[in-house]
Amino acid sequence: MKKVIIKSSAEHKFRRQIQWVYRNEIKKYPRDVQHGEIVEIFSPSGKFLGIGYFNPLSKISLRVLSFFKRKDIKQLIKDRIKDAVKKREKLKEITDAYRLVHSEADLLPGLTVDYYSNYLSVQFNTAGMENLRQTVLDILVEEIKPEGIYDKSDQKVRKIEGLETENKTVYGSIPEKIRIREYQTEFYVYLKEGQKTGFYLDQRSNRKTVSDFTGKGFTVLDLFCNAGGFGIHAYKKGADYIKFVDISETALKQVEENCRLNGVENFETVNENVFDFIKEEKGRGKMYDLIILDPPSFAKTKHEKEGALRGFKYLILNSLKLLKNGGYLSVFSCSYHVSMDDLLDVSKDALSDSFNAAHIEKFMYQDIDHPVLLNMPETLYLKGFILKKL
Ligand SMILES: C[S@@+](CC[C@H](N)C(=O)[O-])C[C@H]1O[C@@H](n2cnc3c(N)ncnc32)[C@H](O)[C@@H]1O
Repeated sequence: MKKVIIKSSAEHKFRRQIQWVYRNEIKKYPRDVQHGEIVEIFSPSGKFLGIGYFNPLSKISLRVLSFFKRKDIKQLIKDRIKDAVKKREKLKEITDAYRLVHSEADLLPGLTVDYYSNYLSVQFNTAGMENLRQTVLDILVEEIKPEGIYDKSDQKVRKIEGLETENKTVYGSIPEKIRIREYQTEFYVYLKEGQKTGFYLDQRSNRKTVSDFTGKGFTVLDLFCNAGGFGIHAYKKGADYIKFVDISETALKQVEENCRLNGVENFETVNENVFDFIKEEKGRGKMYDLIILDPPSFAKTKHEKEGALRGFKYLILNSLKLLKNGGYLSVFSCSYHVSMDDLLDVSKDALSDSFNAAHIEKFMYQDIDHPVLLNMPETLYLKGFILKKL
């Protein structure tokens, strides 16, 4: 294995088992190293620090696979995948769709695998993981015995790594849609068409939690609804009417199908930008008992945080105007750069601007198949709460 020497200023990361080493923290590397090649990592004084893969094209040039000596990389990957599978065992009672491997949080940087009722969706997001593609696929076939594997390596991050983006079936066959179960609801997942790796699995437990606040006869507004998960769960808990809003026509077609699948009859879909919709809805005099705000990541980098917070304040303020007294508003952010405190602060501002008061009923985070690795705070990205307007 080739050797990469890091600067002494980055040595502390290895004590704390932080998997990322930035380009400006690298002291020396062999010029003939291939993009994504597996290397041994050493301190300037020659101390062994770990094994990882190296790509000078990426700002995060080194990603650590192990902080201990490991010779057999295939066995290392296999052990990690087996650990990840075991960790999801307890979810099987409530669902047959979950994230099987969540990249750094499962100690497999650059690899995402989702399980959908015996079909898999995979993403190889770094050159290092791309080089391990066949090893990973062989292990998945051996361990999971899926009927098909779909490669959704279409993330922009691949470009930074010097890789093409691609979407294709890489094992067996993939049906147009896959039926999955989540608590008492069912959904169709379109692996080939759906956003992300297919379905927003990270919100599973939160869809259930929010539905627990739904009462008989509730009117519900599911904003940024995607496949309709929050609204459909609410309907199953006695809600009377759901309005689903999303900018994606494909997502709304899935909402209609998922509503049929779950016997949801009294609903409407609105194909519009939520930022415009909530203003217009106020003009129409509509009021709701439960509103869900689950926007996409507004802050992919820390530089975008300020704009993201302005967006959140606008959305919360206008949602409060559509919420009946005693009604519930559920707000989520899926960006690491927007913290729970940030969300609470903008909500306080929105309450004060609209002369309202509210209780926080529950705090929520990503579900357990998207583990939080305490060593790497970036792995805690999804947070939210449900508030009750007094
Ligand atoms: C995080 S996902 C929502 C996931 C969903 N709540 C669930 O549980 O499956 C965000 C959704 O917002 C939609 N979206 C993005 N920007 C939008 C906008 N400005 N107005 C309406 N929808 C938007 C996307 O199409 C996507 O479906």
